[in-house]
Amino acid sequence: MKVLVTGGAGFIGSNFVHYLVKNRPDYEISVVDALTYAGDKARLASLENTVNFHKADISDASAMDKFVAGNDLVVNFAAHSHVDRSIADPGPFLQTNIIGTDVLARASIKHKVKRFHHVSTDEVFGSLELDSSQKFNEQTAYEPRSPYAASKAASDHIVRAYGETYSLPYTITNCSNNYGPWDSPGRIVAVFTACALEDKPLPIYGDGKAVRDYLYVDDHCRAIDLAVQKGEVGETYCVGGGSQKSGLEVAEAVLKILGRSQDLIEYVADRPGHDMRYDIDSSYANEKLGWQPSVTFEEGLTKTVDWYKNNQPWWQAYSQRLDLMRDNELYKTKATS
Ligand SMILES: NC(=O)c1ccc[n+]([C@@H]2O[C@H](COP(=O)([O-])OP(=O)(O)OC[C@H]3O[C@@H](n4cnc5c(N)ncnc54)[C@H](O)[C@@H]3O)[C@@H](O)[C@H]2O)c1
Repeated sequence: MKVLVTGGAGFIGSNFVHYLVKNRPDYEISVVDALTYAGDKARLASLENTVNFHKADISDASAMDKFVAGNDLVVNFAAHSHVDRSIADPGPFLQTNIIGTDVLARASIKHKVKRFHHVSTDEVFGSLELDSSQKFNEQTAYEPRSPYAASKAASDHIVRAYGETYSLPYTITNCSNNYGPWDSPGRIVAVFTACALEDKPLPIYGDGKAVRDYLYVDDHCRAIDLAVQKGEVGETYCVGGGSQKSGLEVAEAVLKILGRSQDLIEYVADRPGHDMRYDIDSSYANEKLGWQPSVTFEEGLTKTVDWYKNNQPWWQAYSQRLDLMRDNELYKTKATS
């Protein structure tokens, strides 16, 4: 089996490549990644002799024509994925997440790949009321509320439309907030861990009550692998970790694991249009793929924090390159209420 993983130098894509090397030793793996601010080949350094790496943009049609050819499977992780950056500048999100998906899907149709798996997000469904018990599932209508979510929603529609129109043999997974090793110190768990390890304030948006579902990245990789192995063409699977936590609860848990003072918590201005709650029902993935999360939030968070403790040079260099914590105005502005 020849597989092309796009966005394989990113957080989840690189974890997926490591997962495949370990669990699918017969696969011949290639990675395409544009190495944007979020991509880092260091995540694949230990696989240098195992995986073919190509620096390329998924919206470059001639490059995708070349790199998709000959593959049986394409798994698309490549995207701009940081919500706050999409609010500051939506352009690159629309270009990669929409046009890039179109270009990659068309190359996959041309070269008759056997499966095109598209990795998407629960953010396409919008926001749930804080005090409701509602969950997103495969039937939930799309109601994206950030430029990032809108671009991912569009990409899902393109993949489905190409399935109907051109018989693209696709599957899609919509997952919740991932966390784990190699996460970018621009996302909540990694930001809080990095700040706590450096004794810097942990920035909490608004009142800290916004709730997300947390999915350990290894569990997500296993769900994608199962969707490819057992999933039916044309199907979508919702994948969640079954762990709903508010931002404040995540900060408190990180500080507790590291034995740091809760006084490091600092409230900052809320994200514009901040979605209040996401929760996801994975029962269809459980029924059809036999998937369920295996890592609890407490276990996963402890593993993640340990990984951050042991890989300080990597994330310090990465955050310096990104300048994420410094260039984000939202982190600088103290909440006024
Ligand atoms: N991280 C999460 O919690 C989460 C949750 C739900 C869904 N997702 C989805 O999972 C996928 C992977 O997310 P992630 O957290 O690993 O993101 P990430 O930002 O860490 O990685 C994205 C990777 O894509 C690459 N890339 C960006 N634009 C590209 C382009 N035009 N051509 C080729 N490569 C390009 C980047 O260099 C980077 O390596 C994304 O599609 C994202 O929407 C992520």
